[in-house]
Amino acid sequence: MPSLRVPPSPALAGEIRVPSDKSITHRALLLGAISDRTVEVRSPLDAEDTLSTLTAVERCGVTVAGGLETGVVRIEGAGVRGLRPPPAIDCGNAGTLMRFLPGLLAAQVGQHCVLDGDDSLRGRPMERVARPLREMGASIFTAPGGTPPLVVDGGRELVGMRHELPVASAQVKSCLLLAGLYARGETWVQEPAPSRDHTERMLASSGVEVLREGRAVGVRGPVDSLALPDIEVPRDFSSAAPLIVAGVLAGEPSVRLPDVNLNPLRTGLLSVLDRMGGRVTVEARSERAGEPVGTIVASRGPTLHATDVQGDEVPALIDELPLVGLLGAFAAGTTVVRGAAELRVKESDRIAAVVGMLRGLGARAEELDDGFTVEGAGSLRGGEAHAGGDHRLAMLGAVAGVVSGSGVLVDGFEAINVSYPDFGADLARLTAAAAA
Ligand code: S3P
Repeated sequence: MPSLRVPPSPALAGEIRVPSDKSITHRALLLGAISDRTVEVRSPLDAEDTLSTLTAVERCGVTVAGGLETGVVRIEGAGVRGLRPPPAIDCGNAGTLMRFLPGLLAAQVGQHCVLDGDDSLRGRPMERVARPLREMGASIFTAPGGTPPLVVDGGRELVGMRHELPVASAQVKSCLLLAGLYARGETWVQEPAPSRDHTERMLASSGVEVLREGRAVGVRGPVDSLALPDIEVPRDFSSAAPLIVAGVLAGEPSVRLPDVNLNPLRTGLLSVLDRMGGRVTVEARSERAGEPVGTIVASRGPTLHATDVQGDEVPALIDELPLVGLLGAFAAGTTVVRGAAELRVKESDRIAAVVGMLRGLGARAEELDDGFTVEGAGSLRGGEAHAGGDHRLAMLGAVAGVVSGSGVLVDGFEAINVSYPDFGADLARLTAAAAA
């Protein structure tokens, strides 16, 4: 599907089961691979990114039964030191895979392994994992410019140390904690603001002692055994987010999203929506796989107010910031996002791409070095948008279409396949249910 035409819809209604959590699926597959037991991962995300991870696990010599599309993957864990990396692994578009693997592979027996990916991944910074891993004793090379392909030479003796990350990143933190499992002594990671903690939760449930001291988190190595329990993956807040925003702008009576992961380090968008006056409630709270889950209900309310999103808040809504731009176009006043320079090195330069897309659809938006501003007009004209190889921008364009005056033609919509292949169909279902 190279492009998707999304017509405007006066109202949206219904219940959508959004896909399973991408971050948790990547982690369950990788930690399953180094477990001492056979791990059943139920309801894994069936999308291109997690297929890259499952394929990588198999290429490392781990036996896998079932598949993402069957809803159950059974991984015969090879043990902490049991991976046998092949000469090359294709990470596709998956930054999480590319950043986790060096931490897992640096100490495994084996020759060198080349990690590569698609054009988008080839533009992303990798020295942020390579440099601290080298300091721990790993042998890792990046291409000139510090980007993929990466070469990891296995079989190194690692030594634990303390890392202060200049920028909060769950991918970098997780990579270093995974390397810490193999390192002699303690490995600590401190971030300027806390990022998602799925890895820490999963390590703890696998019997690894997770150390905490102030804002720092650590592990003590070497760890000889790890036993990830079977896991049922909750639904992905970042996939729910575009439908929450659609619901806040057009939900009548409401858009309901059950079983969504509500990890507080992921749900910053809910706090931002609360400040803007968005009508969102959470029902049926429970717990799954050591993570809070619940049903999110979003409906159209009075006009939203503009808000400021600043640096400390950014990690908890890093993947949802493009949607804040769209909300800004409908809010009274000027919405400002700052302290989010990380957006420039995501699957695309999301500062330039969000501002470019919103302007192309009629909004008044400006780039800042580390964020953007959007002047609220209360409406959006519509037009053409290009996803530019970025799934979050494909979602942004499609939601913009529903709430625009004339609809949006989203080119390059196939980018959606890395995390939410049925997004177009689910959005159309909400439109149809409201019209019925
Ligand atoms: C992710 C962490 C975030 C996020 C990405 C998934 C993860 O990246 O943007 O989509 O699964 O750990 P950073 O940790 O680099 O901010």
